[in-house]
Amino acid sequence: MRHLYMLGLLLCWACSSNPQQTNQAPNQAENNTSPAINFQAAGDSIVNAAQKAFVGALMKAIQERGTSGAVAFCNTHALPIADSLSRHYGCTIQRLSDRYRNPADRPQATDSIVIAAYQAQKAAGTPLETRLIEQDQQVVYYKPIILGMPTCLQCHGNPQTDIDASTLAVIRSKYPYDLAVGYKQGDLRGVWKIAFRK
Ligand code: HEC
Repeated sequence: MRHLYMLGLLLCWACSSNPQQTNQAPNQAENNTSPAINFQAAGDSIVNAAQKAFVGALMKAIQERGTSGAVAFCNTHALPIADSLSRHYGCTIQRLSDRYRNPADRPQATDSIVIAAYQAQKAAGTPLETRLIEQDQQVVYYKPIILGMPTCLQCHGNPQTDIDASTLAVIRSKYPYDLAVGYKQGDLRGVWKIAFRK
């Protein structure tokens, strides 16, 4: 039984990322003889940059407008920031969640399978790795988004204890079908999805 479990784990690892590649910058990757683009390294560095852009914009908005004002800011700016990063890097950058706030961030078929696999790994205490999946004309990179900072709870935590009333009111009015509350620190909030054309 234990052997079967180990085999299952190995198969899982086989389709996840190669950790040795993760520190390469994309320009180094392009010098490799094959493949032409190191999608793993490109995904890693694009997500790093996107994460900085998102958290930076969020913190600035909270400082300047307060938490409830920052909800309105995210409502109008989150997708445009992703779009402009996508144009800059020549790929499609998304944040997706099984418990999405913006319906535009709802996962599609393969995304849901990846997210469910991450949830299961998290429940089993297995470290979560990035994944590369080849589809017809695309290579798709996924990276888990862990709700890591206490600040996140101000808009995604417990509606009774973490989110203040005025912030909750703005969330409810902008997102009447919101699923993205009730998280605790350390929870899997969703995934980054970077789609490259082959
Ligand atoms: C000021 C309130 C606020 C804070 C703080 C906040 N978020 Fe959000 N978050 C939002 C809003 C509003 C959206 C929907 C944006 C949109 O409409 O595109 C969102 C969307 C997301 C999404 C996209 C998936 C979805 O549900 O639509 C992820 C992932 C996410 N947040 C993660 C985080 C993480 C991680 C943190 C902490 C670093 C955080 N958020 C902090 C308000 C917030």
